[in-house]
Amino acid sequence: MEPTIEHQQQGIALYIHWPFCLAKCPYCDFNSHVAQQIPQEAYANALVQELITSLTDIPKKPLTSIFFGGGTPSLMLPSTVQTLIDTATSLLPVSNDIEITLEANPTSVENQKLKDFQKAGVNRVSLGIQSLNPTALKALGREHSVAGAIEALSLAKKIFSRISFDLIYAREGQSVYEWENELKEALSLANDHLSLYQLTIEPGTLFAKQYQQGKITLPNEEISTTLLNMTETITGQYGLQAYEVSNYAKIGAQSRHNLTYWRYQDYIGIGPGAHGRVTIDQTLYATERHKNPQKWLKSVQENGHALCVKEALTSKDKAQEMLLMGLRLTEGVQAEAFAQRCGVDLMDAINQSMLTALLEENYLSWDNNYLKTTPQGRLRLNAILDVLLQ
Ligand SMILES: C[S@@+](CC[C@H](N)C(=O)[O-])C[C@H]1O[C@@H](n2cnc3c(N)ncnc32)[C@H](O)[C@@H]1O
Ligand code: SF4
Repeated sequence: MEPTIEHQQQGIALYIHWPFCLAKCPYCDFNSHVAQQIPQEAYANALVQELITSLTDIPKKPLTSIFFGGGTPSLMLPSTVQTLIDTATSLLPVSNDIEITLEANPTSVENQKLKDFQKAGVNRVSLGIQSLNPTALKALGREHSVAGAIEALSLAKKIFSRISFDLIYAREGQSVYEWENELKEALSLANDHLSLYQLTIEPGTLFAKQYQQGKITLPNEEISTTLLNMTETITGQYGLQAYEVSNYAKIGAQSRHNLTYWRYQDYIGIGPGAHGRVTIDQTLYATERHKNPQKWLKSVQENGHALCVKEALTSKDKAQEMLLMGLRLTEGVQAEAFAQRCGVDLMDAINQSMLTALLEENYLSWDNNYLKTTPQGRLRLNAILDVLLQ
């Protein structure tokens, strides 16, 4: 998948973080919190305030996407989503085909709410289904049932033309055969996009504790590789191509918003813990907001924003980040785009002898000015980056 002119043209994306969930899933280390009662109005006002402040000092590039992520943004009031979309689109020029995604949990979406999100301007939903197996859903600590998830998906299909859903595989005790069946069922239900994540044990989660106690075991590297290869083959047979380590889409249906991150283009991030990468006067800045929701809220109420990091990135920082993101993509990293963004040639940024070895061992390929990972390379991304950047 070559970048189109539209992708190369420098627009800007907007990420909005909603930090609340109905329950904390035992595998999840996202910035998500369970509140007795969500202070809807205070958070809505603060998000709008932080959005306005964040747009004051950045160049007015066309807004190409908005992503409401979390946490569980489907717990937001549709009126809050509407106000945020209206504010962003009134303060920035807007790309013709702007993509506006909202992450929704099957437990927190009902027909009317989905319709109201659509009326507010959302044109793509990403549903957190996680599994089509009832026992696995329970083990993952999910609040919804398989029937509830399928119901949410069919409601979404009536309202949105662009729909994705998430599944977690390579789970405790899941055989290759079981995943093959679950995946085929998912593909028969899928629209134009799927996010398929292998379960990872994240520090600080309940699963991490259970893993240390030996209560959870995960597939070994050989099985993970088999599962990934099989996933890429089967999704391909159903017309969804792997375009990132965990993401599969029909042609043209890739998540434009997430491509902004992976292609290392500019994005604004607002809300608790949100990160951003914004270019001001030719300098790329990394931005970060206070992570703790209460601290974030207080800071926005007092200062109009909760920015706690705004750091100018060096060529070396940029080179590392762009490789880290770009090598996740099947399309890889384009040498020209790399030099333009990082101010250093791709070949000068990486260790030449390691590159030669990784090309020979078939972990990387060099194709028409794109440095790419092979499928087996994508499974060992961290190790590859460690040696490439030595
Ligand atoms: C921001 S999260 C959740 C969105 C939404 N709240 C939900 O749960 O449906 C995005 C996705 O990351 C995936 N995820 C989170 N933690 C994971 C882990 N430890 N291993 C694999 N996938 C994970 C899940 O599939 C989840 O839907
Ligand atoms: S997976 Fe989703 S619902 Fe579960 S805790 Fe994380 S963000 Fe919340």
